[in-house]
Amino acid sequence: MATAVLGMQWGDEGKGKITHLLAKDAKMVVRFNGGPNAGHTVIDRGVKFGTHQIPAGAFYPGVRSVLASGMVIDLAVLREEYETIAKHLGRRPELLIAENAHLILPYHRVLEDLEGSGKAIGTTRRGIGPAYRDRAARVGIRVIDLLDRTRLEEKLARRLELLQRTWPQAESITSLSASNLADNLLASAELFISSIGDASGAIQKAIARGEEVLFEGAQGALLDVDYGTYPYVTSSSTVYAGLPHAVGIGNLHVERRLGVTKAYTTRVGGGPFPTELVGEEGEWLQSAGAEFGVTTGRPRRCGWLDLVALRHAARLNAPTGLAITKFDILTGLKEIKVCRSYNLRDREITTFPTSTEDLALCEPIYESVAGWDDDIAGVRAYGDLPSAAREYLDVISGGLNVPIALVSVGPSPEETILTGFDRG
Ligand code: GDP
Ligand code: IMO
Ligand code: MG
Repeated sequence: MATAVLGMQWGDEGKGKITHLLAKDAKMVVRFNGGPNAGHTVIDRGVKFGTHQIPAGAFYPGVRSVLASGMVIDLAVLREEYETIAKHLGRRPELLIAENAHLILPYHRVLEDLEGSGKAIGTTRRGIGPAYRDRAARVGIRVIDLLDRTRLEEKLARRLELLQRTWPQAESITSLSASNLADNLLASAELFISSIGDASGAIQKAIARGEEVLFEGAQGALLDVDYGTYPYVTSSSTVYAGLPHAVGIGNLHVERRLGVTKAYTTRVGGGPFPTELVGEEGEWLQSAGAEFGVTTGRPRRCGWLDLVALRHAARLNAPTGLAITKFDILTGLKEIKVCRSYNLRDREITTFPTSTEDLALCEPIYESVAGWDDDIAGVRAYGDLPSAAREYLDVISGGLNVPIALVSVGPSPEETILTGFDRG
């Protein structure tokens, strides 16, 4: 059976925790989009990791970790992450890296700074946008190019020539040489050369054999390059609708699609966020939820749950079940607010606007539900949750017409309530 863990908001929903929890029963775990912009928190036997490119399957023996072709891969970051995880485990995780995934080169990060998108959009400054742009412009360097030094250097020289003509005054670009870049790339790639292969074929075979294959999404639906809050988005498809393409399997069918959402909303970086709370309430959520980015350490903007945005995400991710995370953080609130519709220019709307400018004008229309006081971090059965907590879950599930599959009440894997997860 195949399962996908998909972000329903602006990222950081807790996908890392959920994937790690489910990965122990998988044969293969696949990251299919993004690159080191992702920061997934995994608590493995009490030790906390922020993973960026290696899927959570790496923490279990006998589980293959696949970096699929929809990703852009930074080999230097990968190597560091691989070595840290290998040291913790006392063994080397088994990786398979797609031949046709694209590489992030040092000039991609430089370009992001030169062009100012880091500031304008609030990107993670990991070179994501420029790397995906090179892919679309057909001047990218792919993983398969690492297998032939002469070919690699030729392609780098061609790319550099164009870059240096475009940026004649930028020393950080003019000082680069193809031969140096190739040396550094191959040094970082040394550990991984034997892991490069046909990821798409391997995933297809594993599914055909009926093995448990888990897809670990990065970012969230509202950061999707086409359907998110453009241009305040990342540069890849982040949703289930993009998954078959990102792994190269036309008839991919993932039976279990888990849409992960926090019990409230957060966002890092720029862009509209209708339910954002500025002031005391927002600060309270930020501090109670320890809302700081895993990749960049930036504070996350916080606000109430937004069912309008979540319904939009549900169309893209087609979840068969919801995973509600950080439910414990809301304990102690007298009242919890949920947004069901927006007020846009004195009209009530229930659909997520495509225009980012319109979204910025939307004012949330809230419904209030009662909070609860009992500590729920130790609860493991749905029926043991306070009734107000169950009512809030009903509002979310009813608002999206998707059953609750799992409720997370703490960062560790065991702090989880599984409710009807097998309903599929
Ligand atoms: P991801 O990018 O979707 O994997 O999410 P991040 O790891 O970036 O951010 C989620 C944060 O919430 C991490 O610090 C997790 O350890 C933490 N977390 C996940 N689930 C829960 C939960 O149910 N309760 C609490 N208190 N923390 C959680
Ligand atoms: P995970 O997988 C939260 C955001 C950035 C910025 C925008 C574009 O941990 O959920 P990029 O560097 O991708 O060009 O930045 O997207 N962003 C994320 N926000 N979680 C992430 O990943 C993110 N990856 C990118 O903050 O607003
Ligand atoms: Mg994250």
